[in-house]
Amino acid sequence: MLKSLTNDSRKAVIPCFSSLSRCLSVLTAIRLATPAPRLGFFFTTGAGPVAAMASSYLWVKAFHIVFVASWFAGLFYLPRLFVNLAMVPADSHAERERLLLMARKLYRFSNLLMVVALALGLWLWLGLGIGRGGGQYWMHAKLVLVVAVIGYQHACLRLLRTFERLANSRSHRWYRVFNEATVLLFTAIVVLAVVKPF
Ligand code: HEM
Repeated sequence: MLKSLTNDSRKAVIPCFSSLSRCLSVLTAIRLATPAPRLGFFFTTGAGPVAAMASSYLWVKAFHIVFVASWFAGLFYLPRLFVNLAMVPADSHAERERLLLMARKLYRFSNLLMVVALALGLWLWLGLGIGRGGGQYWMHAKLVLVVAVIGYQHACLRLLRTFERLANSRSHRWYRVFNEATVLLFTAIVVLAVVKPF
């Protein structure tokens, strides 16, 4: 009884396997007969140079946004450290040194992020041609504001040096207002890049 059951199940399973292997052979044949897809940027596949360029545009833009956001996180926080530095009592050396150390490290890291963010932006603009050509005034306006942001970063370095020399004469309120400039610049640049109003 057991033997006949085993034989029956073998009879049922073996054709299953053979049709599965036939299926796999057909699928392999179809795959070999189809031309290999061209590789786009990284792992994306496309159908030629146009698709490859479109996918590299999206990858570069994604990382441009990531680095721009990280750079601005540093630019939002650095003047907050200045607000705190401006409030440190004259005899609190340890607190001042700790804040100065944080500010120096943050400045250096933001600089690095800035270089990568700008390089990726230039790649989009000059390399892939996005925003180039006549009538793309949003791009010109954006570049003017980007120069202003670089100037802001440079101003932060000068303010940091003033704190290091113990020569700061500005109030913490002044630094609070100074801090708002990055919010305005960031908003204006993002609106220009996304809405492209002109
Ligand atoms: C040298 C400086 C920069 C250059 C040359 C540059 C260039 C570009 C280009 C060509 C694009 C593609 C636009 C499109 O897809 O239509 C882009 C996208 C973008 N950029 Fe920049 N960029 C720079 C700096 C910045 C900065 C400082 C910010 C932020 C404050 C920024 C924010 C953005 C955003 C949010 C997008 C995405 C726009 C969208 O998806 O439509 N860029 N950038």
